[in-house]
Amino acid sequence: METLYKLKPTNQSLSSLFSLSLALALMAVSNSLLILFLTISSLSLSIEGIQNSNNFKPSKYSFSFPLTSRRISRPASAATLLPSLVSSTSRNPNSSTGSKNNQSAYKSSFKYSVALIVSLPIGTPPQSQPMVLDTGSQLSWIQCHNKTLAKPPPFNPSMSSSFSVLPCNHPLCKPRIPDFTLPTDCDQNRLCHYSYFYADGTLAEGNLVREKITFARSQSTPPLILGCGQDAGAAEGILGMNLGRLSFASQARISKFSYCVPVRRNQMKVPPVGAFYLGENPYSGGFRYVDLLTFNQSQSQQMPNLDGAAYTVVMEGIRIGGKRLNISRSVFRPNPSGAGQTIIDSGTEYTFLVEDAYAKVREEVVRLVGPSKVKKGYVYGGALDLCFNGDPVLIRQSIGGIVLEMGKGVEILVEKERVLAGVGRGVHCLSIGRSELLGVESSIIGNVHQQNLWVEFDLANRKVGFGRAECSNSA
Ligand SMILES: *[C@@H]1O[C@H](CO)[C@@H](O)[C@H](O)[C@H]1NC(C)=O
Ligand SMILES: *[C@@H]1O[C@H](CO)[C@@H](O)[C@H](O)[C@H]1NC(C)=O
Ligand SMILES: *[C@@H]1O[C@H](CO)[C@@H](O)[C@H](O)[C@H]1NC(C)=O
Ligand SMILES: *[C@@H]1O[C@H](CO)[C@@H](O)[C@H](O)[C@H]1NC(C)=O
Ligand SMILES: *[C@@H]1O[C@H](CO)[C@@H](O)[C@H](O)[C@H]1NC(C)=O
Repeated sequence: METLYKLKPTNQSLSSLFSLSLALALMAVSNSLLILFLTISSLSLSIEGIQNSNNFKPSKYSFSFPLTSRRISRPASAATLLPSLVSSTSRNPNSSTGSKNNQSAYKSSFKYSVALIVSLPIGTPPQSQPMVLDTGSQLSWIQCHNKTLAKPPPFNPSMSSSFSVLPCNHPLCKPRIPDFTLPTDCDQNRLCHYSYFYADGTLAEGNLVREKITFARSQSTPPLILGCGQDAGAAEGILGMNLGRLSFASQARISKFSYCVPVRRNQMKVPPVGAFYLGENPYSGGFRYVDLLTFNQSQSQQMPNLDGAAYTVVMEGIRIGGKRLNISRSVFRPNPSGAGQTIIDSGTEYTFLVEDAYAKVREEVVRLVGPSKVKKGYVYGGALDLCFNGDPVLIRQSIGGIVLEMGKGVEILVEKERVLAGVGRGVHCLSIGRSELLGVESSIIGNVHQQNLWVEFDLANRKVGFGRAECSNSA
């Protein structure tokens, strides 16, 4: 039976979950990029579906959800490091990468220090659960602990008719299956239990379960495998959106998804709200696309430093204040060991560059700002090592904008407002760090440099689209 859905502007929204008041105005064309401005208006988008169908066909859908950008508290950031560990160690359990990554993930205080949060309706009837949107990890998690005073309230399995646990005899519960090296065991209740200790002693644990994501009465995904966390410390779960077969995108057969990251403003009480789309994005007409580099399993296995499930793009070069840096293009492509891939990651805050590229960026920024302003020997959070004393306005002016050149003439412009990160006590650091300090061999474009940008992951056509936007609807 064919199910037809269409996106239809209407004056009344189905529910607050499915409506986002957005309008788009095409404002200007800058270089090769369209500048799109997203503003508030009375236009609401909702889904019209044929009611009696239960087929979930994400390709025909367009669901939008509010997206906020939040600083995550200490316990949460420890717990949420786990998915990255899972995705990075999953590739090749006995390569050196696994152990290297465990070291680096512990070391990094950055992975989710500022996270993108989306709330999805989980279960039947749906319970709204906040999750960290992470294009860099695979397995999704929700918080299921029963400390009812927790805010937001964790997921309550007993209230959902579509909830089931994953039994111990499920293949995923056997340790060391190829793409899932989460430490699991069978607990005394014959449930598939995972537990993981962090270097700081934090324990993350829970059970693997199956649950539906319910978008509307007759529109829900099939039961998907999720982690049901017993970790009361973390408020948010994880929405794992990478290319791995257990990610939400893969399990739910999402053909494309996109997000618009609002600009963070520290002084605002209510965080600005951007958008997350599952399925078609009504504004995609203005997006410019680059191809994803994909790797099959045998290739990935031969490249211990490669994350084959990551969204890998080709970077062509970097310009600072109009000057193109002398960086060989090969620096941004995976070498035979897999080192050098360039990743788009919503779960990493800052941008990190492999050594050859970072050295050139650093050299140019120091030249522009002046060596005397560099705070010598200072490293923020173990990852940002080019920090300055002095007036940030002047420093930003000296640096200007930074342009990350992608393939096909697509560019990510890091405006001068975002080239520095204030880290307190009047110190400002370049918001681009050295991958080596993070312990990774890839360049990572982080969420701070995806602000005011639509980023669309077109899984069916293996490409990533970008469109400049004004993502906050709270002016
Ligand atoms: C992993 O270890 C096993 C046994 O030690 C070995 O046969 C296999 O080749 C290793 N795999 C990789 C990708 O190194
Ligand atoms: C990886 O983690 C284990 C367990 O915490 C630790 O013993 C080991 O030293 C770590 N490996 C590296 C390279 O840090
Ligand atoms: C909460 O969970 C624990 C362990 O899972 C269980 O022993 C306890 O009875 C639960 N409490 C409530 C109120 O459900
Ligand atoms: C993986 O890709 C390589 C290079 O494109 C190709 O030669 C190889 O046959 C592929 N392997 C599989 C198992 O598809
Ligand atoms: C660019 O870098 C390469 C290798 O690092 C060097 O050989 C070349 O002279 C540089 N070109 C310029 C114009 O500086």
